[in-house]
Amino acid sequence: MPAALQRTIPTRRSAPTTASDGLVDRFGRRAIDLRVSLTERCNLRCTYCMPAEGLPFAPNDALMNAAEIERLVRLGATHLGVRKVRFTGGEPMLRADIVDIIARCAAIPDGPELSVTTNAIGLASRAARLRAAGLRRVNVSLDTVDPDAFARITRRPFLDRVLEGLAAAHAAGLGVKVNAVLLRGENDLLAVPLLRWCLERGYELRFIEQMPLDPGHAWDRTEMITAAEIRELLSETFVVTPRDEDRDGAPAERYDVVDRVSGEALGTVGIIASVTESFCADCTRTRLTADGHVRSCLFSDAETDVLGPMRAGASDDEVVAIWQRAMWEKPRDHGVDSTGFIHPVRGMSAIGG
Ligand code: 5AD
Ligand code: SF4
Repeated sequence: MPAALQRTIPTRRSAPTTASDGLVDRFGRRAIDLRVSLTERCNLRCTYCMPAEGLPFAPNDALMNAAEIERLVRLGATHLGVRKVRFTGGEPMLRADIVDIIARCAAIPDGPELSVTTNAIGLASRAARLRAAGLRRVNVSLDTVDPDAFARITRRPFLDRVLEGLAAAHAAGLGVKVNAVLLRGENDLLAVPLLRWCLERGYELRFIEQMPLDPGHAWDRTEMITAAEIRELLSETFVVTPRDEDRDGAPAERYDVVDRVSGEALGTVGIIASVTESFCADCTRTRLTADGHVRSCLFSDAETDVLGPMRAGASDDEVVAIWQRAMWEKPRDHGVDSTGFIHPVRGMSAIGG
């Protein structure tokens, strides 16, 4: 473990005894930001996420239904201090009841802010209804706007549908952020055109370091594009200067972007350095998998079933207590960048980005 982390994360003495303690862990962190996976299925096959043939997906009745999701989001918000909920997958738009799920969660009094991470396929026809139901923002996964590179990375020729979905989300008044993973030899040299494209449209782009969350375990620390390399790639065209702001638990470090030639201020870009500049000490996140397991950390295989007890009749207080116990065990850090790191069994699409 990096020495810096050892210093910055204190060890708490006692486990939470009441719901008002919220989702705290042994190291004094409090999770207020909940990711809820809605499905493991996806209509793309991004090479860093899923094998070409897909994965064995859980049957639909093993997944949380809309009422179960609403109950957990309500308990998170009213009992445990959850302030933000991001629905993820797999691809959330593959849930036929996505608008209903958003509407139910948006109706929770003093409920959390709602956003969705999506590949934007299927967003065009739903964006306005999602906005009307109470959705505030979408994070669209888009690694390149070059059609050939897109088809190679996602193994599907659907760039047009993604761009249509993005435009519809923007037109519907949803906040739009774009997430991109750079892969050496695939789209690393397309980082600058992607940033220009996003800046021109007012979409906030964030580059995410590739994490070892591919079920094929092909991730290679020596091959991945690091945050430092991303800054270098961008610096050939732009002046990128870290913004002087408090990150407040946000994973992205944000930079001001200025055109190197014209000197024009173009906007901002984010870099999420999950591997090389990890932010575990400030982590405010927790997750629910689509099959209703609490997963306190992306990289920890420890999962706690909460859907099973719910279906067996657990009371709200019991569900809250199970959730709190699961969070108490959250690991200190993911250790991705240290020797001895163990690749998690479930990949990103099964856990929920
Ligand atoms: N490393 C980094 N990001 C990933 N994503 C999926 N798999 C990985 C990985 N191995 C991204 C997707 C999406 C978000 C949910 O996570 O591109 O933007
Ligand atoms: Fe689907 Fe997202 Fe995985 Fe790509 S990264 S295959 S869009 S779940």
